[in-house]
Amino acid sequence: MLRVVVCVSGGGTNLQAIIDGIAQGAVYNTEIVRVVSNNPGAYAMERAKKAGIEAVCVSPKDYENRELFEEALLACVEEAAPDLIVLAGFMVKVPEKMVKQYENRIVNIHPALIPAFSGTGYYGLKVHEAALARGVKITGATVHFVNQDMDAGPIIMQKAVKVYDDDTPEVLQKRVMEEAEWVLLPWCINLIAAGQVKVENGRVTIAE
Ligand code: GRF
Repeated sequence: MLRVVVCVSGGGTNLQAIIDGIAQGAVYNTEIVRVVSNNPGAYAMERAKKAGIEAVCVSPKDYENRELFEEALLACVEEAAPDLIVLAGFMVKVPEKMVKQYENRIVNIHPALIPAFSGTGYYGLKVHEAALARGVKITGATVHFVNQDMDAGPIIMQKAVKVYDDDTPEVLQKRVMEEAEWVLLPWCINLIAAGQVKVENGRVTIAE
């Protein structure tokens, strides 16, 4: 069984896609052992509880400084003894210590085709606003391993999504989620659980 900790900050639709994938048997040999949120109001916490998964909040507001928050976050993750950490809309920069400790064992979903519209400042709707402003005809989503740089770790999988002339950032965000994010993330977790994902020289290969 692949023990997964899912880190969230918001609505948790990606978390829901993983929960549903496991329930429906599309994600095999995987158990979500804990959901960790930095935001006490995150609806993702409710989704976890409804699915019978332990949900724990580690809010930076409860700590005197960043260092103490990062320590608490890492401790909360470690306590659940995960094989894999999934960032599903997690709006916190992963502490350096955590990145080192879980090298190639943290995955993130980004709502664009990396390296486009990625890195510092590209989060949430801003990603889609930038894609529309640039006039790209195709965008999409990327699942990648997390390294010390923002959105820069080895790419596991990408899926393209069409952009239409009359798209608003909100409409595009919804399409990227429905057509790409909710498909890719469970799929990648399943491949990792099956031991099919290998990282070599910063590149991912997927075994058949
Ligand atoms: C998604 O667009 C994800 O790609 C981004 O944050 C959003 C999270 O949505 N990193 P949700 O909380 O999974 O609904």
